Amino acid sequence: MKALVLSGGKGTRLRPLTHTTAKQLIPVANKPIIHYVIDSIVKAGIKDIGVIIAPETGQDVKDAVGDGSRWGVNITYILQDEPAGLAHAVKTAKGFLGDSPFVMYLGDNLIGMEIDGFIDEFNREHCDALILLKHVAEPQRFGVAEINDKGEVVRLIEKPKEPPSDLALVGVYVFSPDIHNAIDVIKPSWRGELEITDAIQELISGNKKVKSHILDSWWLDTGKKDDMLEANRVVLDEMIHSDIKGKVDAESKVIGRVSIDEGSYIENSTVRGPAVIGKNTVVRNSFVGPYTSIGNDCLVENTSVEFSVMLDGSKVIGIERLEESLVGKKSVICKDDVPHKALRLHIGDDSEVRL
Ligand code: DAU
Repeated sequence: MKALVLSGGKGTRLRPLTHTTAKQLIPVANKPIIHYVIDSIVKAGIKDIGVIIAPETGQDVKDAVGDGSRWGVNITYILQDEPAGLAHAVKTAKGFLGDSPFVMYLGDNLIGMEIDGFIDEFNREHCDALILLKHVAEPQRFGVAEINDKGEVVRLIEKPKEPPSDLALVGVYVFSPDIHNAIDVIKPSWRGELEITDAIQELISGNKKVKSHILDSWWLDTGKKDDMLEANRVVLDEMIHSDIKGKVDAESKVIGRVSIDEGSYIENSTVRGPAVIGKNTVVRNSFVGPYTSIGNDCLVENTSVEFSVMLDGSKVIGIERLEESLVGKKSVICKDDVPHKALRLHIGDDSEVRL
């Protein structure tokens, strides 16, 4: 079994953040989303991982992921010239995949389930495709499946106006090499992409075995600010352990599960977990509340921040209450003198907000 991680594409939905960062590299609890994807693939025992990259963001993805040695696996980068669809990405990776079955994992998806059991199910049931589905409130935003009572997939449609069910395709699939023949037959969709849903539909029409597994834990399609904050909340809740490598002075209090990385300094402040603080960050005369992730090289001064994400190099100074906010890289929010009010912000990279 090999794995193919899709980390190409355009990434327009989380603008302004994705003007400067590939969507898959946006950190959740200070770790890029694609790292969670690779962690999960590695835990399933897969050693050969192909990563699809785009010309614009490929080098950043390579820098953030490396050659796989930190996980003890081989990573092969595969350049897709244009974001011509998920099936086009598979086609581009054909040389890497050969005739091996493979897991395809969309590099911007985070799920609360390990995938080893999912792969076992694919092998046990001798499937040609096994897809992961979840009941969602807005199926029209996704690929949607219609299944029969045996869990077999009857029909798939990409982003239908009138969804036949509330079962959305989560971005994790397992395929036999038969998927390549199906991809060779399909044509680009109305949005000009070679859709993996069409290729799977082709397998169904050819009487191949296409089954589904319904995800009952969380799934975060990291498309929007609120999704990012929710992803951050869930991951901090489930994965953060107390780990204090930085310095905490005698006037400060660190309560609950808090991780503070090397070179950071907490001065005359309270940090209440779950929270994570990266490297070389200073928190001074401040309160950092639950469900907050603060990146590397940040400054939080005379501020109260909670349920927020601050990316690397950002500064928040003099804000009485910042909550439910996403602060882009190297942005500055600085308040001089305005009346007390809660702020809810989505600030792109390199911005400055003075209040
Ligand atoms: O997130 C789940 C949804 O992902 C599914 O429900 C849909 O059926 C599936 O088509 C896909 O829909 P999106 O429109 O959300 O896909 P998006 O363009 O965001 O791309 C998903 C990932 O794949 C993302 O990490 C970028 C990467 N990608 C995308 C395209 C179109 C590539 O690497 N190459 C591509 O050509």
